[in-house]
Formats: sequence, C-alpha cells, structure tokens
Amino acid sequence: MPHQHKVHVAIFASGSGSNAKALIEFSRKNEAAYEVIVIVSNKELAGVRTVSEQYGIPFEYVADSGNGPAMISLLQKYGVDIIALGGYMRLLPPELVKAYSSKIINIHPSLLPNYGGKGMYGMNVHMAVYKDKLPFTGITIHFVDEEYDRGLSLVQAKVDIADCTSPEAISAKVKTIEHLIYPMVLHEMCKRIYSQT
Ligand code: GAR
Repeated sequence: MPHQHKVHVAIFASGSGSNAKALIEFSRKNEAAYEVIVIVSNKELAGVRTVSEQYGIPFEYVADSGNGPAMISLLQKYGVDIIALGGYMRLLPPELVKAYSSKIINIHPSLLPNYGGKGMYGMNVHMAVYKDKLPFTGITIHFVDEEYDRGLSLVQAKVDIADCTSPEAISAKVKTIEHLIYPMVLHEMCKRIYSQT
C-alpha cells in the first residue's frame, strides 16, 4: 500500500555513515514508510557528509550538541517525526529526548547490555569482544533515553564471528547485519506511526 505522507526521519551520525547510507537506500523504495529529510552531525567533516551530498539530503552540522532547545527548533524546521541514530557519538540533550520521547532509536554493535555504556562505541566494542574471544556478538536496536545504550530494546540479532580473526573483521561482519536490519526496523516503526494518523 503506498503511503501518502512518509514519516520524516532525521539521521544523527558522527562517522563514516554506512548505516545512514543503508537507511537512505531503503527509503528510496516505493513501499518505504519513511523518508530521510536531514542528516545531523556533531562533526563538520564526517564521512556521512559525503553520503548526504551523494543523495542530495541536507546536512546540518551542530557545533553545540548539548544545546537542546536549538536542536529541537532545527528539527522542527524540517518537520522531523523520528530520529534514527547511526553512530552518533554524543549524548543527546535531555530536552531533546523529552521532546522526542519514544521517537528516537539507536543501533549499537553488540548484544546490550553487554559491551554498552560510556566509551563503548564503534571499534571499541569490537576490540573488547575480540579480546574476550567470543564466538558470537550481535546488534541491538533500542529506544533512546537520557543515558548511553539503556533504553528499551526493540530488536536484537546475534552474529556468528567464529571465523573473524581481527576486530576489523568483526566490525565488517556486524555492519553487514546492521545494514540489513536497521532499515527494516525503522520502516516497521514508521508504518505503525503511520497507521495511527
Ligand atoms: C555502527 O556500527 C553503530 O552500530 C555504532 O557505530 C557504527 C557507525 O558506523 N554505534 C555505536 O557504537 C553507538 N554506541 P557507520 O558510521 O558506518 O554507520
């Protein structure tokens, strides 16, 4: 069923933006319940900026990522409904979390609560998993609240890493799974919001 008004999504990212790219790619399908209308970053020259240019999506650099009211008015300017974090390395200001309560999701490259919390992001997670010689790791997609990696979990998926011989190999394998699952979860979430309006 085609959607008349797609849900407006803002992606927040600080890094290379491979998840942003996967979310945008999916949004180009007819059946997608969301469209990505802005990419927000605390890094002016993040790789995700190139992704935004590639797809012609506005890029907003937010120098003061702690300024809740300014971020809220920026998002309102774009009519943002949902925020999807994809490797965003800053804690969101509490005002923003409150204003977008149950409307912010994050992807984390481990099976939370394992390998979560402050300092646990990106390669740090995979290095810790590698050191522990685990045969599997995973991903978690969860709602965001005021603390790192703590909100209600939506989806978890296990990833077999028995064949991975470095943290980089673990990262690559985990990202492949992230790119498959994150767009679907965002789509399902937006579909639900949609059917309520
Ligand atoms: C992703 O693996 C994501 O799960 C992770 O950062 C990476 C961003 O990669 N997020 C966290 O660690 C959040 N605590 P990308 O820039 O290629 O999408």
